[in-house]
Amino acid sequence: MSTKSKAAPAKERAEEDTVAFDVSDGIAWVRFNRPEKRNCMSPKLNRQMMRVLDELEYREDVGVLVLTGEGTAWTAGMDLKEYFRENEAKGLGAVRQAQRESYGWWRRLRWYHKPTIAMVNGWCFGGGYGPLFACDLAFAAEDAQFGLSEINWGILPGGGATKVVSELMPMRKAMYHAMMGENIDGKTAVEWGLVNEALPADQLRSRVEAVAKVLLEKNPVALKATKDAVRRVKEMTYDNAEDFLVRAQEAANSFDNDGRKEGIKQFIDDKTYKPGLGAYDKSKKG
Ligand code: COA
Repeated sequence: MSTKSKAAPAKERAEEDTVAFDVSDGIAWVRFNRPEKRNCMSPKLNRQMMRVLDELEYREDVGVLVLTGEGTAWTAGMDLKEYFRENEAKGLGAVRQAQRESYGWWRRLRWYHKPTIAMVNGWCFGGGYGPLFACDLAFAAEDAQFGLSEINWGILPGGGATKVVSELMPMRKAMYHAMMGENIDGKTAVEWGLVNEALPADQLRSRVEAVAKVLLEKNPVALKATKDAVRRVKEMTYDNAEDFLVRAQEAANSFDNDGRKEGIKQFIDDKTYKPGLGAYDKSKKG
């Protein structure tokens, strides 16, 4: 099944046209859709992205969500005019409202019900690190450009961007990246921990599709429990993590104990697969 949202003219892009998506073969391909503005995030885009995430999160025909960009950019970060300047002119209430809207959909994406993949096709700046970090996995074009450009126009990397680089990069690299305002390409972004892999631009989509297909074969309850656990345990002591994981496993079992039992059965009794080499056949419910 495929659902397409329409494109819009470069000028006066309506709020509903700032994000595009289609769904095919279990994958929702969601696109920042302001290519004429290098997909920078305006309040309109932030509101529309939350609506799109809402619409897709529990749809039965969606198993994996991919976030990418139309045109030459993934996203050029926050919209300096519509997000910063215009809201600052309106006052603190407008600034806080715009922050809630952008941080809100990034947070929603961090804890999304489905596995998420950032497919970074081009420019990725500043505020873009929020949704980049929010996605569970990230793949980039080798010639994509990543930068904390904030220092170049006179602010600190806010909106979570500093937290993202200090989470993902060793301290010296995070410090250099934040202080120097130099861009790095996709290959360097792999070395510095921002993304999983970098590929030639013409191979990016097929690699992401292949990864998504692997995820679609896994038990979805286990995937959601796993992705949340990886983020949660990062801030816990070993003992707290050990206890949390026991509880999280038991909670997951209460949603889908049959899946787990079937996984054990197909290995131990049926001998139809080996968990060390691939996933059990989840179409056969015990
Ligand atoms: N905020 C507002 N407008 C932006 C924008 C942003 N973050 N990024 C791009 N745009 C706008 C440009 O003003 C331009 O608008 P115009 O056609 O009305 O003049 C349009 O998008 C195209 O941008 P342009 O700079 O001509 O494209 P480019 O391909 O030559 O360069 C970038 C691309 C991303 C290098 C450049 O646009 C840029 O430096 N953007 C700002 C990146 C940034 O600092 N983001 C951090 C924000 S926290």
